[in-house]
Amino acid sequence: MNHRNIILIGPMGSGKSTIGNIIARRLQREFQDSDHHIEKRTGVDIARIFDIEGEHGFRDRETSALQELLSEDNRVIATGGGSVVRPENQEILRQHGFIVFLDTSLNQQMHRLRRDKKRPLLQTDNPRARLESLLKERRPIYLDLADLVVKTDKRVARRLAADIINQLPESLT
Ligand code: S3P
Repeated sequence: MNHRNIILIGPMGSGKSTIGNIIARRLQREFQDSDHHIEKRTGVDIARIFDIEGEHGFRDRETSALQELLSEDNRVIATGGGSVVRPENQEILRQHGFIVFLDTSLNQQMHRLRRDKKRPLLQTDNPRARLESLLKERRPIYLDLADLVVKTDKRVARRLAADIINQLPESLT
């Protein structure tokens, strides 16, 4: 791996943006968030993209966002929870940085996302069942892609970010 990007993966509510921001600040790197990037590019929010273009349209935009964000080096990138599903994206992620999986329990996800109105996939009668089935499908992929796995439950963001930095290969810090 010749790239010095640090890429955070994990499910919705795992804290990718919060932790990514802290790591970027501490390492004096640029932070980028894939969902924000897509919203900036399109001028509308993620929910609207799902409404108009469906999930497939959103996933196409997500692939382009990953390509754009990872065309530069030395960044800290927070990905969307579903960005690991397409094999094409898995390849992009693998080739462009050191991948950190924020391994989060269903309970913690539910706690963090209990009032969420922005995530289209959670606007259902039973968000817990949705999160559970997504995690079942995606956790093996997160684990397979990860260079580093960190458990996030009951951890304060600052401490967790410091812990991740301590475990990065020397060439990245
Ligand atoms: C999604 C996760 C969201 C966002 C979209 C779909 C998913 O990102 O990309 O709502 O499929 O898990 P976060 O993981 O940042 O919430």
